[in-house]
Amino acid sequence: MPGFELFGDLERNEVNDVLQSGVLMRYGFDGMRNGHWKAKELEAALENTLQSKHVQLVSSGTAAVSVALAAAGVGAGDEVIMPTFTFVASFEAIMMLGAIPVLVDIDDTLGLNPEAVEQAITPETKAVMVVQMCGSMANMKALQALCTKHDLLLVEDACQAIGGTFNGKPLGSIGDLGCFSFDFVKTITSGEGGAVITNNKDYYLNTDHYSDHGHDHIGNDRGAESHPFLGYNFRISELHAAVGLAQVKRLPEFLEIQKRNYGILREALSQIPEVTFRTVPEGGEESYAFLNFFLPNLDMARQASEAFKTNGVDGCFHYFDNNWHYIRKWDHLKNLKSLYPISQEVKKGLAYLQTKTFEKSDYYIARNISCLIKLSWTEAEVKARASKMVEAIKQIVKS
Ligand SMILES: Cc1ncc(COP(=O)(O)O)c(C=O)c1O
Repeated sequence: MPGFELFGDLERNEVNDVLQSGVLMRYGFDGMRNGHWKAKELEAALENTLQSKHVQLVSSGTAAVSVALAAAGVGAGDEVIMPTFTFVASFEAIMMLGAIPVLVDIDDTLGLNPEAVEQAITPETKAVMVVQMCGSMANMKALQALCTKHDLLLVEDACQAIGGTFNGKPLGSIGDLGCFSFDFVKTITSGEGGAVITNNKDYYLNTDHYSDHGHDHIGNDRGAESHPFLGYNFRISELHAAVGLAQVKRLPEFLEIQKRNYGILREALSQIPEVTFRTVPEGGEESYAFLNFFLPNLDMARQASEAFKTNGVDGCFHYFDNNWHYIRKWDHLKNLKSLYPISQEVKKGLAYLQTKTFEKSDYYIARNISCLIKLSWTEAEVKARASKMVEAIKQIVKS
């Protein structure tokens, strides 16, 4: 997710506007800021790009997920269904609110398995959090139907999939609320930052107030604003928003390069019969941020991962052995290693992790390799990489 690769004059000029006025905060200081409102401008640009009525910028993708859940009233003791394959931020954001993450299996989309979701629904379930991992999406049609049937909130974490679409709608805009990250390794970056998008005005106003200590942002005297409810500080700074503003303008260019590089690699790997690819649901179009493929078994995937490293093919992840993205290595969650006491309710709610196994997720993640698609590669470099990958895999499958 290489927004960081193409940082240039556009970004520098936007940042310079902020440095020249010296107003680093997104709220207030109207007279000093020379008309520059980078966070507001970025929100407007994202509304357009993501075809969403409302966008609230926040300080990170993790904050976005927490703020989205809070804005919709998810809190203490509520259960939120989430996938076993994601980033740790998913359960962190849920637990920050005193809610309980209920982890369920994924399927060949590498996203939530709708059957597993349905089995996990209890009277305590408040939301389903679908995570659009590695540039593509889960079976959104089935998940939407399930959420409607059971009257559940659908929160879409599209942090890794900006630019992907389902039935022509941008990923992130399909659920009740969508979340994005603009950290340094996402398709577009603001250094650090995130966004919550929604078409629901009440949820939006909640995100606006909650992410700024509960400020209602009415009037132009910050000290006199009222606080309809408790909030925290998840604000983005103008400096970060300025970088994001430059990058969002370049998103179409980034997506085009990604798609071209992805296409070259995919075509090369398609020639190996033992290689299969993740399922993209009908109506879905990936963002092409990653090329995800399966090998026949765990051993071969491990060998391929090693061979890629040895041959200088970087940015290919075998998440089965990765500490951050898959349940298998989340012992800190399973053992509730927390700096501060966790509520009895959450402890009880997470007890299932001591015994529950996730064979279906293992089946996919053990065999999956996810390769980052970079923007800075020349065509010759992508082709050379493709040849190295094909060579390495062919050797593994024939031995
Ligand atoms: C799926 C997913 N959700 C949330 C996040 C959190 O984003 P941030 O790093 O901006 O907090 C990430 C970051 O990698 C992510 O991949």
